[in-house]
Amino acid sequence: MARIGFLGTGAIAEAMVRGLDGAGHDILVSERNAATAQRLAGDFAGVSVATNAEVVAQSDIVILCLMSGIAERVLPDLPFRADHKVISVMADMPRDRLAALIPDVADLSLTIPLPSIATGGCPLPVWPDTGSVRAVFGARNPVIAVESEAALNAHFGACAVSLPVMALLRTGVDWLAAQTGDRTGAEIYVTAMFGAYFAAMRKDGSGGIDTLMADLGTEGGLNDSLRNTMVQAGAPDALLEGLDGLRERLGLPPA
Ligand SMILES: NC(=O)c1ccc[n+]([C@@H]2O[C@H](COP(=O)([O-])OP(=O)(O)OC[C@H]3O[C@@H](n4cnc5c(N)ncnc54)[C@H](OP(=O)(O)O)[C@@H]3O)[C@@H](O)[C@H]2O)c1
Repeated sequence: MARIGFLGTGAIAEAMVRGLDGAGHDILVSERNAATAQRLAGDFAGVSVATNAEVVAQSDIVILCLMSGIAERVLPDLPFRADHKVISVMADMPRDRLAALIPDVADLSLTIPLPSIATGGCPLPVWPDTGSVRAVFGARNPVIAVESEAALNAHFGACAVSLPVMALLRTGVDWLAAQTGDRTGAEIYVTAMFGAYFAAMRKDGSGGIDTLMADLGTEGGLNDSLRNTMVQAGAPDALLEGLDGLRERLGLPPA
């Protein structure tokens, strides 16, 4: 059990607190956003609302869920100690910059949670892996240690694959619905199919995308034919080009 404090009680802090329900921690959330903080304290035993200073002073692990501009303003005045473990989820706050704001803290790691952390199974890339993210969230979420800040930031790019892939899936759903006349049934079919593929990957622990693709890719089969059409149309190349186009924004070197 740990004393865990959240600074900034917004969307991602709420998801993280919900994801820790039942883990036995004492959790302090900062008073802003007031409605979210009160809701969390009302919904979960072990969650209390406090001022920013109290959150820091009374916690062993402090999770920074502020917008970076706010963090620049408030962090230097808070009572951080050398024995604090600090986890930042702030997307646009480099570790060096953050370290300068809270110079007493050595155990300082960055991670990128997604809203799915509320229910578990959320992949958590972490850099550097000081053990804090794993200790707090590792029981319910896969933690992926990476070697550099650039490698961490690359995960934002992979995250951006979500919308284009969803758009492709929706095209498949729309196509199926046009044949069956049942949009709801089509959506359930396609999403449940993909959910089952990935659920099987998790349970198995081995294999992964290459194994799934090999299983699906019987030469001359429907999957193989459609994949070849997409490759000829340049879909994988377009995705790579789009990802490389994000490099500068992500602080990655040119391809
Ligand atoms: N949302 C996501 O899926 C996600 C995922 C990964 C990382 N992040 C990162 O997490 C951080 C927060 O994002 P978010 O989406 O959770 O934003 P958000 O919902 O706007 O949460 C920010 C919170 O900070 C509070 N706040 C403002 N000023 C404050 C102060 N002086 N002291 C304490 N708290 C203060 C805000 O309260 P008021 O509403 O009262 O202003 C709000 O509750 C960002 O840096 C973002 O990059 C977000």
